Amino acid sequence: MTQNLLVVGSGIMGRGIAFAAAIGGYNVTLQDILEEKLKEARTEISWYFNKAVEKGKIEEFEEDAVKSRISYSTNLEVEAKKADFVIEAVPEKLEIKKTVFEVLDQYCPPHTILATNTSTMSPTEIGSYTRRSDKVIAMHFFNPVPKMKLVEIIRGLETSDETSELTRMIALNMKKETVLVNEYPGFITSRISSLVGNEAFNMLMEGVGTPEEIDQAIELGLNYPMGPFKLGDLVGLDTRLRNLEYLYNTLGERFRPSPLLVKYVKAGRLGRKTGKGVYDYSVKSEAQKDESKTPVS
Ligand SMILES: NC(=O)c1ccc[n+]([C@@H]2O[C@H](COP(=O)([O-])OP(=O)(O)OC[C@H]3O[C@@H](n4cnc5c(N)ncnc54)[C@H](O)[C@@H]3O)[C@@H](O)[C@H]2O)c1
Repeated sequence: MTQNLLVVGSGIMGRGIAFAAAIGGYNVTLQDILEEKLKEARTEISWYFNKAVEKGKIEEFEEDAVKSRISYSTNLEVEAKKADFVIEAVPEKLEIKKTVFEVLDQYCPPHTILATNTSTMSPTEIGSYTRRSDKVIAMHFFNPVPKMKLVEIIRGLETSDETSELTRMIALNMKKETVLVNEYPGFITSRISSLVGNEAFNMLMEGVGTPEEIDQAIELGLNYPMGPFKLGDLVGLDTRLRNLEYLYNTLGERFRPSPLLVKYVKAGRLGRKTGKGVYDYSVKSEAQKDESKTPVS
């Protein structure tokens, strides 16, 4: 039975996944190479719990017990040995994911399933770095994880039916809905979202409108809940750029990253996580501060 879940990488996604897994009843270890990221994650997870209690998602008396299901660690080898199920959420760079999967394969028990939260990459290729490609799968969560309902599940060529079914069950226990996708770069959501986000940067570069005008037109005219720049700043413009680079290399010209997006990333304007992206978050009202954290719907 799956009890111990290991989340590798405690950034924007990993901390949300760890929270959702604890709510889903699992014992969770959140691992990162950086102690300071784990500290940040612990603070943000406490905030998620406060919101969850406020919104009646969990009872106040349960809070401490659920919170205590999450532990924090910098030691991947030690934690891998105890894991029944792993969700990797390290940066979208193949060489980093490759190293992590090689270590996981070496130290995890034979029954352990290794899931990647990649936005674009091939679970078949990631599975090939292990000797258990039948137990490797992509489990694509959305940002902010505590709020977003969907998990896309992407089977690699060698992924078994058992792995796919168990992954779906875990997502359901985490109170998510699932869509099963046949592997192709960018799956369903990242392919569409990258294209829209990139086009918005091209429009900004061409002077079609201000960021506010473009976001407002997309929200009100196309009924998107969030304009492409607000979403890009939330996702992280570096992550957005890496997704586009991968899709450009695999699917071609239509995903060529906008030069303006490249320029923002070079300038270190990565979005909310650095305080400035397309929009500036450095001076903000209390209401904005609250909004900038991950809400629980
Ligand atoms: N940001 C999003 O909106 C979003 C949405 C869906 C999927 N994803 C995917 O999730 C993954 C993580 O993205 P993120 O936005 O959370 O990134 P992030 O940069 O916020 O966090 C990555 C974390 O991984 C840690 N890390 C780096 N190397 C590591 C290693 N070898 N072992 C353990 N930890 C390591 C970093 O210290 C950092 O805390 C990426 O594959 C990304 O494409 C992101």
